[in-house]
Amino acid sequence: MTPKTVLQVCPLPPRLEQALARHEPVRLFERPDFLTTDGDSVVAAVTSSRYGVSAAQLELMPGLGAIVHFGAGYEETDVDLARSRGVAVSNTPDVLSDCVADLAVGGLLDVVRRLSAADRFVRAGGWDFPLTTRVHGKRVGILGLGSIGRTIARRLEGFDMKISYHSRHEVSGVAYSYAPSAEALAEEVDVLVVATSGGAGTRGLVSDRVLAALGPDGYLVNIARGTVVDEPALVSALVEGRLAGAALDVYAEEPTVPEALLGLDNVVLFPHNGSGTRETRVAMADLAYQNLERFLTEGTLVTPVG
Ligand code: 8YV
Repeated sequence: MTPKTVLQVCPLPPRLEQALARHEPVRLFERPDFLTTDGDSVVAAVTSSRYGVSAAQLELMPGLGAIVHFGAGYEETDVDLARSRGVAVSNTPDVLSDCVADLAVGGLLDVVRRLSAADRFVRAGGWDFPLTTRVHGKRVGILGLGSIGRTIARRLEGFDMKISYHSRHEVSGVAYSYAPSAEALAEEVDVLVVATSGGAGTRGLVSDRVLAALGPDGYLVNIARGTVVDEPALVSALVEGRLAGAALDVYAEEPTVPEALLGLDNVVLFPHNGSGTRETRVAMADLAYQNLERFLTEGTLVTPVG
């Protein structure tokens, strides 16, 4: 009888690795040839949003039944291909929305009120800091009104911000006004917060034109994926003063941060750690593991994607 292998595609947080140990997973990143020789034994693959499961890997696992992602994003996995092969896919949605939203609000406050810049200023012996821009009452646009986007919007209501959004579809039951495109949204707001999913469908959505619509007094906050923004266009806009500032948690080619941003005082840079709190990473690890367990015992998933 062929053994039933649980495949661990990439390094995962210790809590999840400890739970996985029960299934004696094969660690693909330590045995890169495993799929070529034994791919047909794999029944479930556990991966992260960053790595996913490639189409080439999928092809080598004809008995695969489930791909379990640690993370909300799953754009590195070809979900359509997986579905066409009868492979179920899960992620860890919702449990990270609050922490990612907290970071988005932190980035927004930081870049508009220049908190990090003021901190650097004081450390360098300064005191009379230039005036900054008001946050409350400003117009904010949420690009992507999913779980994270809605959580950000709810928090920003507390800052009396005027909230509008653009999503693929108009969302029913929300009081925010809908803009028909990313450009139209950027045109009408002071701060654009990017909260879409990643992948081919949103690549370059925040284009040069969208940045131009946001304009020299506009701020960009991105906690979604670097690929959603035309990064070279963003860098040029910031360097040339065609945008007031940006708070970024994500980049096009992580962990590379464009060199030109490092010297800009009106840019706040985070190391893709929106979900990076102990509490949320525990919740993500546990949900990922529950998905694996449910699949191995019942053949279903707790949080299937789509
Ligand atoms: C994680 C994320 O840091 O969940 C996601 O999609 O981007 C982050 O929460 C990371 O991707 C986990 O692999």
